[in-house]
Amino acid sequence: MKNLKNKKWLLSSRPVGMVNEGNFEFLEEDVTDIKDGEFLIKNLYLSFDPAQRGWMEDRKSYVPPVGIGEVMRAGSVGQVIESNNPDFNVGDKVQGTFGWQEYAISNGEGILNATVLPDGASLTAPLSIFGITGLTAYFGLLDVGKPKEGETVLVSGAAGSTGSIAAQIAKIKGCRVIGVAGGAEKCKWLTEEVKIDAAIDYKKANLSEVLPELCPEGIDVVFDNVGGEFLNTALTVINQGARLAICGAISGYNNETPAPGPSNYMSLIIQRARMEGFIVLDYMDKFPEAIGELMQWESEGKIIYQEDIQEGIENAPETLLRLYTGKNKGKQLLKIADPE
Ligand SMILES: NC(=O)c1ccc[n+]([C@@H]2O[C@H](COP(=O)([O-])OP(=O)(O)OC[C@H]3O[C@@H](n4cnc5c(N)ncnc54)[C@H](OP(=O)(O)O)[C@@H]3O)[C@@H](O)[C@H]2O)c1
Repeated sequence: MKNLKNKKWLLSSRPVGMVNEGNFEFLEEDVTDIKDGEFLIKNLYLSFDPAQRGWMEDRKSYVPPVGIGEVMRAGSVGQVIESNNPDFNVGDKVQGTFGWQEYAISNGEGILNATVLPDGASLTAPLSIFGITGLTAYFGLLDVGKPKEGETVLVSGAAGSTGSIAAQIAKIKGCRVIGVAGGAEKCKWLTEEVKIDAAIDYKKANLSEVLPELCPEGIDVVFDNVGGEFLNTALTVINQGARLAICGAISGYNNETPAPGPSNYMSLIIQRARMEGFIVLDYMDKFPEAIGELMQWESEGKIIYQEDIQEGIENAPETLLRLYTGKNKGKQLLKIADPE
């Protein structure tokens, strides 16, 4: 056994309002010996997801909350560096929920279960385009939004990791796509490189004026990552039979009190429209075929994606905050170490 130290971040308090570094405690501990059936993982890349703010709250959700004193939960890719488990060999690259720490000991089950990545696989794409991000865009847009050729699709958080993939899948399906994002640089990327039809900078433009001008024939599908004022305004421009796929509501994740509900929800009645939330994990049995299709589109150049890779376990809380301040350009990751 090597003499290893494990730097890790524990959840130390539940956030009220904006999450901050004070909600976490930084520790360094010895890595203990692995027992029979266990293996030691060296974390290489951590995934950062807006939902992590929700996991820090003690409330009913689709996953249990992170306990106070527990390692902060996060998806990651790592490498097996010691093993007493025949299913995991030293050198294997693995994906799992190994959390904000440099090393994790797993027996291949429970929250620390691990999936071995194929030889030569990218170490970051399984956390971005070919991971939860791409799959959320895929199932949310196709199964909930159900876009048809010629329809108009409106995507919020459009320059983000999920939104930008949803927008491109809508283009592949022959739709006219309007994206909403924060700042001129993100909007330029959306129109010039992602090549959607139009992008609106919600920090500058008045959405309730610009949307009807840009979409005189209304909107058929809304893929919403943001909620709040965006959703309320989008409801005023939907067409009859519109589908609103509620993917997330990041504008309210750090609110101290719940945001008011969308006052324009009467549009759902008038337009016989459907607003439906979804959780990507419900589609797990269909992940392999969806990843295959995403890989195909990516290899054909029909989908591009960005990864924003920060470095160093010490910077985990700061990296999480990038999501809520819009600093991230594409999928937010944190590099912890190089593979051995
Ligand atoms: N339903 C599911 O199963 C599922 C699974 C994964 C993710 N999600 C949801 O998908 C959404 C996107 O997640 P992601 O991982 O792809 O993150 P992301 O979009 O790459 O990053 C978050 C982005 O949200 C925007 N944002 C932050 N605060 C905002 C505010 N107050 N108002 C408007 N926009 C704000 C920022 O973009 P701007 O600079 O453009 O403001 C930021 O870059 C989140 O709502 C997340 O919870 C849902």
